[in-house]
Parts: sequence; structure tokens; C-alpha cells
Amino acid sequence: MTKDTIKYIYKFGEGNKTMKALLGGKGANLSEMTRLGFPVPSGFTITTDACREYTKRGNAIIEEIKPKIKEYLKMVEKDNDKVFGNPKSGKPALLVSVRSGAKFSMPGMMDTVLNLGLNDEMVKKFAEYHGNERFAYDCYRRFLQMFGNVVKYIDGDKFEHKITEMKIALITGITGQDGAYLAEFLLDKGYEVHGIKRRSSLFNTDRIDHLYQDPHEKNPKLKLHYGDLTDSANVIRLIQEIQPDEIYNLGAMSHVRVSFETPEYTANVDGLGSLRILEAVRLLGLTSKTRIYQASTSELFGKVQEVPQTEKTPFYPRSPYGVAKLYAYWITVNYREAYNMYTVNGILFNHESPLRGETFVSRKITRAVARICLGLQDTLYLGNLDAKRDWGHARDYIEAMYLMLQQEKPDDYVLATGKTTSVRDFLQKAFLELGVELTFSGKGIDEIGKIKSINNKEIKLPIGKIIVKIDPTYYRPSEVDLLIGDATKAREKLGWTPKYDLESLIKEMVQSDFDLFKRDKYLLKGGHKILNYHE
Ligand code: NAP
Ligand code: GDD
Repeated sequence: MTKDTIKYIYKFGEGNKTMKALLGGKGANLSEMTRLGFPVPSGFTITTDACREYTKRGNAIIEEIKPKIKEYLKMVEKDNDKVFGNPKSGKPALLVSVRSGAKFSMPGMMDTVLNLGLNDEMVKKFAEYHGNERFAYDCYRRFLQMFGNVVKYIDGDKFEHKITEMKIALITGITGQDGAYLAEFLLDKGYEVHGIKRRSSLFNTDRIDHLYQDPHEKNPKLKLHYGDLTDSANVIRLIQEIQPDEIYNLGAMSHVRVSFETPEYTANVDGLGSLRILEAVRLLGLTSKTRIYQASTSELFGKVQEVPQTEKTPFYPRSPYGVAKLYAYWITVNYREAYNMYTVNGILFNHESPLRGETFVSRKITRAVARICLGLQDTLYLGNLDAKRDWGHARDYIEAMYLMLQQEKPDDYVLATGKTTSVRDFLQKAFLELGVELTFSGKGIDEIGKIKSINNKEIKLPIGKIIVKIDPTYYRPSEVDLLIGDATKAREKLGWTPKYDLESLIKEMVQSDFDLFKRDKYLLKGGHKILNYHE
């Protein structure tokens, strides 16, 4: 009842004006709050126009929500101490406007919710009213857990607001490509995000460092824990401590070629790792609370039995990686059926980005394009140029992971673009992005790629120069020749529509690597050493 009523208020009228009118002019003004230096939660952009729009909407819905507000006020009088009980006064504790310290007879919900990022000054004010600091934090936490709100001002004229409970998510593989994008996405939605990172002799959080707060700050929204999917006790302890609403199991030894060299380890992490998560949730009695996303893969289709591949296409994995993921897929289905758990498989086709690991073919190519064009690398060595993949952008795909866990019923979904491209075509498109046209000759391991023409004055390479060669080291003992997915189910049931196409993906990746290696070029020019990484 409490929750529903508040949600209703949010749904129709989170305008400050609404609160202001209802509270006799005591409501806070968003721009004022920003001016006073209160932190704006991640994902929230505020402008004067946004405020105006906000107020306009508030006015428009005020009549409509009045009865609900009254109902809510009655409920607050009666039940509020159960929700936020105030130990100091013994009276119903009310969330107070942290800006003014005014004591409303109705929680200053907007102020509180908008000020997701706590700072000391706010807590002090809050604590003055509530009696003690710990209690103030506790109230905040509980309130935000229930009603965390994310408001977004988009495109200058559209105003999007979303009502989400502030959930707790645990991401395994948070230091990887998808983990990094997903963490950012969930933080933006107001989630408290926990991630498992592996111990490494060097820092390994590059991809999420921009999101990572100093853990000494109060109430950080992103928390990292040391762990490993091969360590059951670690997995159980972390899940017990974190009590996540959602687990995204992205952790994996994810390189298909490498899985032929480390098959047992791959099975342990990618197969049994998933089991460890499922069992931990079951053993800890969290089956009705915690939803689990399993990072399944189009590698399950391997030697494809049908074109295009859908959720119904039979599996035929072609690598230790694929086989380990097959176990993970079925154990995820089994726990759903056996224990009625909310577990889903996202069967994702290849997805790339500027954050893609450097040894996957897309990133290997875009890095080489940048380095060759800048004169930092001579030749790019690749394996099978004929393999075809359905390549999308990681940003699009992580959004669907989230959607899969928000459905009424758990299910498995294919995510794909529906288009397939050979490695050779990807390579050509990537070089063309910088104006370099390639021509290929020869067959198999004797195939070479030469520069046919250059339409870019900044690139000083000779026409006819061989810049691509084949190295059979990169061939796989058994290859997946063709992948192309049909994501109709995800489009229809999740409302998922990818925003990127292959051209925009390649453009972004090449540009990003070009910018990255321009820095190396400057360093070289300045007489400094640069590092050359080799696979
Ligand atoms: P990624 O960049 O390789 O990231 C893998 C993550 O797993 C990293 O954070 C890695 O940690 C972590 N990890 C590796 N071994 C671990 C272990 N023993 N315990 C705990 N964590 C471990 O992969 P991604 O591209 O983001 O893919 C995410 C998931 O989706 C993977 O499960 C992958 O198999 C699956 N998938 C990916 C694609 C794709 O095209 N990207 C498609 C389908 C499915 P370190 O940073 O320390 O190495
Ligand atoms: N890595 C790599 N390096 N691949 C090459 C090379 C090379 O030098 N030359 C050709 N290829 C070919 C591979 O043989 C393969 O057919 C294709 O390029 C794509 O290879 P990767 O980029 O390594 O990706 P993948 O398709 O094997 O696996 C990725 O996608 C899967 C989903 O289909 C990974 O992200 C997996 O974790 C994921 O499950």
C-alpha cells in the first residue's frame, strides 16, 4: 500500500511544483538545489529548462493526484513510524527537506530522492532532525532502496522519468567489456552495484575506473569485492553479504581460441561457475528474491543447424568454451524449472565496442588500423578471414540483459542484429574508415592484403604495401563458420531495438583507437618510449 501510493505519486507527479503547492509553498526547487551545490545523482542532468518543464508537468497533474496524496498523508500519519520511525521524538519520522531542514508533515520526497549522492553536510542536517547520523543514513538507505528514482533530461526537449526501486545488483565479470557498460547503465538507473574483481598483480579496473569511487567515501554506489568464480566459498559469502536483487553472471574465460589451450579451467569458470552462483542463491534461501542473468552465447550454435539461429535452434558447440557454456545454459534452465527460480539465459551474438578486449578480432583489427595508419605498426596478422559473425554493439546488448530481468516471467532470449559479415569485410570497412582501401590476393595461409588506394592526406603509406598477412596460429582446431541470429522474440517481448549498426560500431571503434594511438605518436615524437603489446 505504502509503496503503491508513493509510486502512484511519482508516476503522475514528481514535479516539485506539485509538492510545493501541496506543502504550502515549502517544496524545494531543483535549480536552487543544484545552485546550492547539492550533488546530482548519476544519470541526472538538470537545466533551467528541465525545471520549467518539470514545474509545468507538476501543475498539469496536480488535480489528478490530489486524492491520492490525501490518501497517502493519512497513511503516513498512521504507518510512517513503521517505515521511518523517529527514535528522537517518538513521532512518525518524516523525511525532511535536507536543503532547508524544514519539517514537513509530508516527507520531502523529491529532495530526498533527488539527492541520491549523500554528502556530509546533508547528513548533518538530516541527523539534526532525526536524532543521530547512523539513523539518518539508515533512513536514507531504506527509503532509496524502496523508491530510488532516476530522472533524465534528454535531447533538450524530452523529459523522461523512470520509477525504479533502488535495487542491488551483483555483476561478476564487472571488469570486462559488458560488465563495465552494464555497471554504468545500472548506476544510472539508481542501482547499488556490486562487482567481483579478480586479484591481479596489476590494477585491472581500467574499464570501470571512471565509475569507481574512493571506497572511503560514505555510501559509494559502486562496490568492488575480490573474488573468483572458481571459489565456491567466496561466491557464497559475497552473495550472503550483498543480498542482491539481481545477479548478472558475466564472468568467464571468454576467448574461444584460448579455451582450446585451457579447457579444464574454462569448464570450471564458465560451466561450474554458473552452478556455484545458482547453488549459492538456493542455499542462502534467496530463490524468491534474487534474479539471475546467465551470459549465454551464440557459440552454443557452433556448427549451425539452422540459419538464422533462434531460441529454438539446436545447439552444436565447437570449442571447450562453447561446451562449458552449454552446461551453464542448461543448469540455468534446470534451476528455473526445478526450484522455480527467476533465471534467464541471454543468448548473445558477438558484440563489440571500444572497450572490447584487444585479442578479439574486431578490436585487434581496429587497433591495427589505427597503429598502421599512424606508422606505429607494420603488419596485421590474422587467422580465418572467411568466418562470418553477427556483430552488434555492447551498449545495445547490456540494455537487453537488464530488460530480461524485469519481465514478469523468466525466459531465454537471442540478441542479434540479423546481419552477418565476414572478418575480411570487417577488416576492409575498418581501414576504409580512415580512407585506406585494401585489395586481397592469394588463398589460405598465403592470402595477403595490400593498400589499393588512400583517400586521406594525413596517411603517408605507399600504395601496394602489404599490411595484412595470415598466421595459422590464429586458426581454431574447430571453427564456427557462420553466425546470424534472429532476435524477433527479444524485439517483441522485451521491446528491444538495437541503436547501432555495423557501420556506426566500426566508426566508433576505429575513431577511439585512432585517438588512443595518437597519444603514443605524440609520446614518440617527444622522445618517450611506448609499449608494444603482442598477443
Ligand atoms: P570479457 O571482456 O572477456 O570479460 C570477462 C570478465 O570475466 C572479466 O571481468 C574477467 O576478469 C572475468 N573473469 C574471468 N575469469 C574469471 C573468474 N575465474 N572469476 C571471476 N571472473 C572472471 O567478456 P565480455 O565480452 O564482457 O563478455 C561478458 C560475458 O558474456 C562472458 O561470459 C562472455 O563469455 C559472454 N558473451 C560475450 C559475448 C561477446 O560478444 N562479447 C557474446 C556472448 C556471450 P578480468 O578482467 O580479471 O580478466
Ligand atoms: N580472435 C581472433 N584473432 N579471431 C580471429 C582472428 C584473429 O587473429 N583472425 C580471424 N579470426 C576469426 C575467428 O576464427 C572467429 O571466427 C572470428 O574471427 C571471431 O573471433 P573472436 O573475435 O575471437 O570472437 P568469437 O566469435 O570467437 O567469440 C566471441 O563471440 C562469442 C559469441 O559468438 C567471444 O566474445 C565469445 O566470448 C562469445 O561467446
